[in-house]
Amino acid sequence: MKILGKFPSTRLRRVRNSDWIRRLISENNLSANDLILPIFLREGKNKVEKIKSMPGINRYTVDKLPYILDKAKKFKIPLVALFPQTPGKKKDKDGTEALNENNLICRGIRLIKKKYNNLGVMTDVALDPYTTHGHDGIIFNNKIDNDKTLKILVKQAVLQAEMGSDVIAPSDMMDGRIGVIRKSLDKNKFIETKILSYAVKYASNFYGPFRDAVGSKSKLKINKKSYQMDFRNSDELFREVSLDIKEGADFVMVKPGLPYLDIISKIKENFKIPVFSYQVSGEYSLLKEGVKKKLINEEAIYESLISLKRAGSSAIVTYFAIDILKSMKKFK
Ligand code: PBG
Repeated sequence: MKILGKFPSTRLRRVRNSDWIRRLISENNLSANDLILPIFLREGKNKVEKIKSMPGINRYTVDKLPYILDKAKKFKIPLVALFPQTPGKKKDKDGTEALNENNLICRGIRLIKKKYNNLGVMTDVALDPYTTHGHDGIIFNNKIDNDKTLKILVKQAVLQAEMGSDVIAPSDMMDGRIGVIRKSLDKNKFIETKILSYAVKYASNFYGPFRDAVGSKSKLKINKKSYQMDFRNSDELFREVSLDIKEGADFVMVKPGLPYLDIISKIKENFKIPVFSYQVSGEYSLLKEGVKKKLINEEAIYESLISLKRAGSSAIVTYFAIDILKSMKKFK
């Protein structure tokens, strides 16, 4: 590419000198259409509980869900993602609560589908909120057993689809799960149920506050490095994404977000499939803390989300979804 022009006839600042021209040539913008709102659920009734590790984010009992869903609706957020905090007594080593049709997620899906139209629901397929050890799969011979885990994940996915989940989002990083899940969904006539594969999910240190929020931080030391990707690598993304597309993924997710902009843009350039990114809990809490302490201003949040879009994200899962839609108008 030849970039013509020479100073002083070429002055790049000319197209930056007022708000109207900046607006006119902006390549990326943010709107509700780009945002997916995660919501945490808890047992009980009539409770909205603050999550300490994630200031500004709450856990809701199912009856209180409308408190946050009405906001999502008001701001025209297209899709919400549900995550449960399973009470300790309902957890076991195989995560069987994941298959209970009256678990938090199933009740949450049913409420949304009954009371909100034109609002999509996305649900995580993985066992970590339901296992005593906090791993995404089941343990056999001291390892997270891929193929035994698949059998449970398939049932979890079909159950969520039965309840009305629109987007099944396997975040467990087991090999081969997209294929078996797509097959079972189709066999059970859920041909319209979409699959968002967390195709490129790193074993990241930025998930800390989330694990606290869903209570998957167990006493056993969690190391998910034997199944989630090594953050020193990027080449693997080509095989991960190709396989998941072949197996039937409708879109793919990159997770975390901001430290992985290179990964997002590689997928965007090489695969013509919508790429979503997940601005995870650690990113959220750090930014929030920085703004609270006035080390950075609120526009930094907007900047982080625009960066994710600029890298190629079609949509972003972010705990800031509602906040940013409220405050965005201020930024010029
Ligand atoms: C696990 C899961 C995790 C997140 C979403 N689903 C954490 C993990 O892999 O331990 C993290 C999200 C966040 O940090 O915001 N299935």
